[in-house]
Amino acid sequence: MNLAIMCSGGDAPGMNAAVKKFVDYTEERGETPYLIFDGLEGLIDGRIKRASHADVAGILHRGGSVIRSSRSQRFYEYDYRKQAYENLRKEGIEGLVVLGGDGSFRAMERFCGEFDVRFVGIPTTIDNDIYGTDYCLGVDTALNTIRDALDKIYDTASTFNRAFVVEVMGRECGYLAAISAISSGAEICVIPEVDFNRAVAEERLKEEIAAGRRYILAIVAEGTGRTEEIARWIENSLGFETRVTVLGHIQRGGAPTTFDRMMGFEFAVTAVDRLLSGEKANRVTVWKNGAIGLLDIESVVSHKNRLNPHHLAMLNRLD
Ligand code: F6P
Repeated sequence: MNLAIMCSGGDAPGMNAAVKKFVDYTEERGETPYLIFDGLEGLIDGRIKRASHADVAGILHRGGSVIRSSRSQRFYEYDYRKQAYENLRKEGIEGLVVLGGDGSFRAMERFCGEFDVRFVGIPTTIDNDIYGTDYCLGVDTALNTIRDALDKIYDTASTFNRAFVVEVMGRECGYLAAISAISSGAEICVIPEVDFNRAVAEERLKEEIAAGRRYILAIVAEGTGRTEEIARWIENSLGFETRVTVLGHIQRGGAPTTFDRMMGFEFAVTAVDRLLSGEKANRVTVWKNGAIGLLDIESVVSHKNRLNPHHLAMLNRLD
């Protein structure tokens, strides 16, 4: 059977590990792997290549994706989706593995409903915002990048009696901000999922300042749009000289952690096994309660992901 892999949407560390395992494992199973370059844009334009081990040798430790990625406007149009399908047919590709987020999965659900394509998605985004899985590929590396930055910011903040407001990525999801705040001991965390109570935080911090607190670390999720407001509030109400750091795209890059490499392998093997099994495809690989599984694409894209209440409870203690 001819199987292909592609990346779609924002890149995340661990993509290369998954791509490499896909190629090696597909060959091991006696089937033929293909690479689709530049995501859905490349699928539309037929940038598809039969792959062998040589194409994926030496890529494991690299961030980003050697087969690149894209966000495609053209794929919203039926004619381009048809063209994409013709390209798959030309190569005799029957199964498709897509590393991406829920936007990409929604696109694939539509595509597979219209054409005869079997698909398995691998949840891949540093935002960790996909329903049905506790873990998306790339999250551990992004969390460690943020932790490293926060440790450094802590050094200068505590030496200089300052407050720092650090903005982290995640779109509408506060996962990266929440876990970073908990694990770095931040004093403040502002995320879209929780109504941040400034008055409560102010009272607590004033008491701590009176007792000798000399620095403040605040983590703000980009999705709240409140970074500057929080910085002004700290400066004006708590009297700390305040600096803002927007971590930005460094959170998306870097060598994948061991965990992300292992998850890339596990997800890729699960995806290939499913496509070759003859069982119903159009599934997403998930990591749930410490085990790998598969979930119906329809269920993944039709539910909204929620933050783990256990993490929210840990966060509430910052209020
Ligand atoms: O979805 C991943 C992500 O990095 C988000 O955290 C962020 O909001 C967005 O992509 C940034 O997108 P772009 O790379 O297009 O600026």
